[in-house]
Amino acid sequence: MNKLNIGLIGYGVVGSGVAKLLNQRKNYIRNKFKTEFAIKSVCDVKISKRDTSGLGRAYLTTKFEDILEDKSIDCVVELIGGLHPAKEIITGALKRGKHVVTANKAVISTFGRELFRLAREKKRNIYFESSVGAGIPIIKGITEGIAGNKVQRLYGIINGTCNFILSEMTKNKITFSQALKLAQKKGYAESNPVLDINGMDSAHKLAILTYLAFGKFIKGEDIYKEGIKDISHADIEYADSLGLVIKLLTIAKKENDRIEARVHPTLIPKEHPLASINGVYNAIYLDADPLGELMISGQGAGQMTAASGVVSDLINLASKDYDENLICNIYSEAKNVRIKAINNVQTRFYIRLQAIDKPGVLSKITGILGKHGIGINSVTQKAHNWMAAVPVVMLTDYITEKELRQALDKIAELSIIRKKPVAIRMEKL
Ligand code: HSE
Repeated sequence: MNKLNIGLIGYGVVGSGVAKLLNQRKNYIRNKFKTEFAIKSVCDVKISKRDTSGLGRAYLTTKFEDILEDKSIDCVVELIGGLHPAKEIITGALKRGKHVVTANKAVISTFGRELFRLAREKKRNIYFESSVGAGIPIIKGITEGIAGNKVQRLYGIINGTCNFILSEMTKNKITFSQALKLAQKKGYAESNPVLDINGMDSAHKLAILTYLAFGKFIKGEDIYKEGIKDISHADIEYADSLGLVIKLLTIAKKENDRIEARVHPTLIPKEHPLASINGVYNAIYLDADPLGELMISGQGAGQMTAASGVVSDLINLASKDYDENLICNIYSEAKNVRIKAINNVQTRFYIRLQAIDKPGVLSKITGILGKHGIGINSVTQKAHNWMAAVPVVMLTDYITEKELRQALDKIAELSIIRKKPVAIRMEKL
C-alpha cells in the first residue's frame, strides 16, 4: 500500500473540494490504486473561519512554513492562486524534497521555466492538470495522449466564467452583470473576477498551452488580450443573423519561428464544434500531425471539477516517485521562436458602425476602408430611419490589425458616425 502525506495550502472553494473528494473516494482509491492519502496539515489565512469539520485530525495552521518544514509531508498541494507567495511555496516545497500539485495557472505560466528547472534539479514532480480547464485532462491529453504529434494550431474556450456569461446573454437575454453574478454564485469566477472578464485568466492558461504545444514559454502578460465586457446584445444578435456566435477564444498558431498567441472575443461559424460549447464548459480544439483535428471538452470551472484534476494528479503522483518523463522534468525550450506582434496578425473583422441614414454615407465609409486596402465581403444596414443614426454591419476580408485600426480611427472622425465603431475579429477555424 502506497502512503502519501499531503500538506494542503489554500482551503477555499477548490481546497475544500479536494478534501471532500479524497474523503469520499477513500475506499475506492485504496482498492483500485493501492494508495492511501492523508491530509496531514491544512494552511489557510482564514482557517479559523472555514468549515474544517471534514478534515479529521489534520493540523490547521495559517503559516505555510509549518507545512514546508514538516518532514513527514510528501506532497504540497498549492491552491491559493496568484503569484506570491505561491511561487515561494512551490520552490520551498521542491527544495525540501516535496512533490507539488498545483492548480495555479498564474504561477506556472509566469515562473514555469524556473520551477521546472528546480523540479528537475531536485528530482521532484510538479503536476498542474487543474491549471487549464480544471479537471478536463488537457495537460495530460497534450503531453501524454498526443505525445509524438506536432501541434500546428490550437483554439480554446478556457474561461468558464466568460463562456457562461456569453451563453447566458445569448440564450436567456440577461445582462452582462446579471450573468457575472450568477457565475460568481456558482463558484466559477476567480476571487477577483476582473481576471476572468479581461481575458487575463485565459491568457495565463494559453501561456501554459503554448508551452505544451510549441515548447515556448510566453508570459500571460505578453499575450495580446481583450475581454468580454464590451460585448453587447446587439452584436450577439447581428452575429446570429450572420450564422456566427461570439466566444472568448484563445488562439495559438505556429508558423516557422513565429507564434501567434492571442485572447479576444471571436466570431466563429455556428456549425463549428466550438460554437456548441456553452455555459461553464471549456474546450480545446487543435490540429495535430498526424492525428488531425481533435476537440476535448468538459466543465472547466467549479469546485468539484477542479478538485477532480487535483485528485487525478495525486493518484498519478502516488504511483511514481520521481518521474523523469513528466513534462516538468523534460523541460526544454524552442530557440529563436518569437511572438508575432498583434499589429501584424491578419484576421477578418466584423465591424459595427452607428451611421446617419442618408445617401452617400456608405460610400464615404467604404472609401476609407478601400484606401487602407480593406476588402468588404458583406454590408448590412440593420434598420432604416431617415437622417437618424442606424447600425451598419460589415464583414471584412483578411487584413492586418494595424491597417484596420488606422481605418477605424479615420471612420470614427466622420461627422456621420455617431458612436465608437465596434470591431470583433472573426476566425474561420
Ligand atoms: N475562473 C476560472 C474560469 C476557473 O472561470 O474558468 C478555472 O480556472
